[in-house]
Amino acid sequence: MQHMTARLIDGKALAAEVRAALRPAVTALAARGAQPGLAAIVAGDDPASRVYVRNKVRACEETGVRSELHEFPADVAERALLECVAGLNRDPAVHGILVQLPLPAHLDTERVLAAVSPAKDVDGFHVENLGALLRGAPRFVPCTPAGVLRLLDHAGVPLAGRHAVVIGRSNIVGKPLALLLLQRDATVTICHSKTARLAELARQADVLVAAAGRPRMVGAEMVKPGACVIDVGTSRTADGKLSGDVDFAAASKVAGWITPVPGGVGPMTVAMLVANTVRATELSIA
Ligand code: GUN
Repeated sequence: MQHMTARLIDGKALAAEVRAALRPAVTALAARGAQPGLAAIVAGDDPASRVYVRNKVRACEETGVRSELHEFPADVAERALLECVAGLNRDPAVHGILVQLPLPAHLDTERVLAAVSPAKDVDGFHVENLGALLRGAPRFVPCTPAGVLRLLDHAGVPLAGRHAVVIGRSNIVGKPLALLLLQRDATVTICHSKTARLAELARQADVLVAAAGRPRMVGAEMVKPGACVIDVGTSRTADGKLSGDVDFAAASKVAGWITPVPGGVGPMTVAMLVANTVRATELSIA
């Protein structure tokens, strides 16, 4: 086969739809005197993190969600971050708080995430929200996994009884996504850097999610014909372009559905963050 056979799943278009669909909820909140507010905390000068946070702030503004950015130098004291979080927890105009990861290495990520009020934890990273997800009663779901589920549902990809293989076991993507897929009755395999016979397992997947952060690690030989391939990878190449974990040109000749990078999962992550912030606001005044 020489040409692309996979259907393209357009995350950029769907993310715009998701944001537009939030407008009525934002208007309804305004009628009750509430404007959703998101506070983003970023420490250090990792250029990728700065870009992500800027995209999140912009998406909020476009949707009528107020946002504030709290920037700290790379050598920020943990106490200063914890004090910032504590202030935002108390601020009634702030409904959502996100701490952009990764934090500089000298900071204890677990301690900082634990300081965020679970009711304002729109990233879904607090143990209380991750625990609720594990229990099968999710409250705030981490944004990238939530976005992947929306993409799958939008494309009409069946999950119940299907084999989903997730490559990557991060707390941000792989682990919570595996739980969401399990909750939708998929049979889930989590693979990672130590997995033996990765290609063999991947080739069994009806839904293959690549979230390892290894550019183009998924080639055509790892894709079952007709499978749905979701690419969560966002690595920066030497020439400044964004590269996914999937060799798109090769995999799209075999897959049934595929997401591009950029324009696939990335915009959905941002849209789900806005959705979680609107939800947090609704819950706060319910
Ligand atoms: N770093 C990579 N992905 C994310 C995300 O979804 N949220 C935050 N806060 N940090 C991240």
